[in-house]
Parts: sequence; structure tokens; C-alpha cells
Amino acid sequence: MLKAVYPGSFDPLTNGHVYIAKRAADIFGKCVIAVLDNSEKKSMFSKAERVDMIRSVFKNDKNISVAAYDGLLVDFMKKEKSRVIVRGLRALSDFEYEFQIAQLNRQLAPEVETFFIATEPRFSFLASHAVKDVFKWGGNISDMVPQEILERMVKLQNKD
Ligand code: PNS
Repeated sequence: MLKAVYPGSFDPLTNGHVYIAKRAADIFGKCVIAVLDNSEKKSMFSKAERVDMIRSVFKNDKNISVAAYDGLLVDFMKKEKSRVIVRGLRALSDFEYEFQIAQLNRQLAPEVETFFIATEPRFSFLASHAVKDVFKWGGNISDMVPQEILERMVKLQNKD
């Protein structure tokens, strides 16, 4: 059994992310969802909040765990003793960005391999930033994120 690491910013986790995590856990045996910072993005939820929210989504999945990490993904890979990074691909347009990250990580840690899982077509339009935008302007996102995530987004909105 292998342990795959599925890294991302997950701000917030979408149904597309859920599909990739479950698929990775099913294929590799175990999946650790790693919540990391993307220096290019400003987040809606703190890392601790995201971990908490994602844990609630996968509370019944024994082979999926969630962790936060401050630092490089390759250092997290060493800490977890894993050589398998999993990333989802929605469309060809994702490829350039993903390829760049994969090659960068390869240079930093040649022993680690990045595997890509193509998402199901029904999730191909889903992106965290789009979900946040639809939600902000009152659109219905109940088919885009798990119920637990929707509840936390509503809670956060009511706090403001
Ligand atoms: O979901 P995202 O925002 O596309 O995920 C990108 C992420 C968080 C996986 C990437 O930015 C990352 O690995 N950040 C941690 C710092 C790092 O290792 N940077 C070098 C590779 S980009």
C-alpha cells in the first residue's frame, strides 16, 4: 500500500477535490490531503479552518487524512515518507501550471513523482475561486461543495 499526498490550497474544498482525494485513496491505498500556502493566492479561510473543514468532510473515510504544512511541499513529502504527489487535471488549460509545479518539485526532490488524475467531466468547470465568487454574489453553490463546506461558508458570511 502506498501513501499519496494530495496538496493544494483548498480555499475552499470543492466536490472536484473530493473526487480526486477519494480516487487517490482508492488507487494508492492512503491519501493525505496537505493544506499548503499558495503564495499567489489570498485565502478566505485560515489554514487551521481549512483543515478542520476538510476533516469534517472526510470523517468517515478511514484512508484519507488531512494535515497543514508551512513550507515546501517536498519537505512535507519527506516528513510523510511519501514519494507520491497527486494532482487533479480538469482541462488542458491546467496542464502548463501543473507541469511547472511538477518539474520544480522534481528538481527539488527527484525521488518524488507527481501523478495526475483527470477529473470527471461534471467537475471540469469547478474551481475554488469561482465557487467563492458565485457564493459572494448570492448564487447557489450547493452542488459545487460538500454540505459541511457550505455551512462553514454561510457561517463566515454571517459573521461579517
Ligand atoms: O490548489 P493550489 O493553490 O493550486 O495548490 C498549489 C500548492 C499549494 C500545491 C503549491 O503552491 C505548493 O506546493 N505550495 C507550497 C510551497 C511550495 O512547495 N512551493 C513550490 C512548488 S509551487
